[in-house]
Amino acid sequence: MKILIINGPNLSMLGIREPNIYGKMTLDEINNVIKNNFKNHDIDFFQSNEEGKIINKILEANSFYDGIVINPAAYSHYSIGILDAIKSIDIPVVEVHLSNIYKREEYRKKSITGEGAVGVISGFGYNSYILGVEALELFYDKR
Ligand code: DQA
Repeated sequence: MKILIINGPNLSMLGIREPNIYGKMTLDEINNVIKNNFKNHDIDFFQSNEEGKIINKILEANSFYDGIVINPAAYSHYSIGILDAIKSIDIPVVEVHLSNIYKREEYRKKSITGEGAVGVISGFGYNSYILGVEALELFYDKR
């Protein structure tokens, strides 16, 4: 399977950014764990702090990938643009969060973008991404 992992704003700061909430691993380290866990898949990685770039990537992915695992980060809570992009494409999208957004501040408890996803995985640290890829495998029944 060809899979695209998208990470939203400030996730490039993982390892430094609030490690008590998001863990000590950098984004590169997480991406390497994902790659090593799924050598059977062709996985690409994209991170941006910009909403429009994330939207473009989602729309372009429709022709090139079998599925997307996305952590829209703060955009999860308010980006109707990213939600509309997810709803515009045919391929399955799994939303993931490192932290359990339901245990956090009120303004983080709702995911707008999650409405467009096949499902949302939240609270398992970097393993949320592993579970996200597994969810795509289950979607296609290709374990
Ligand atoms: C996050 C949760 C969001 O509320 C936050 O803005 C992030 C990361 C997570 O992975 O737990 O940047 O998406």
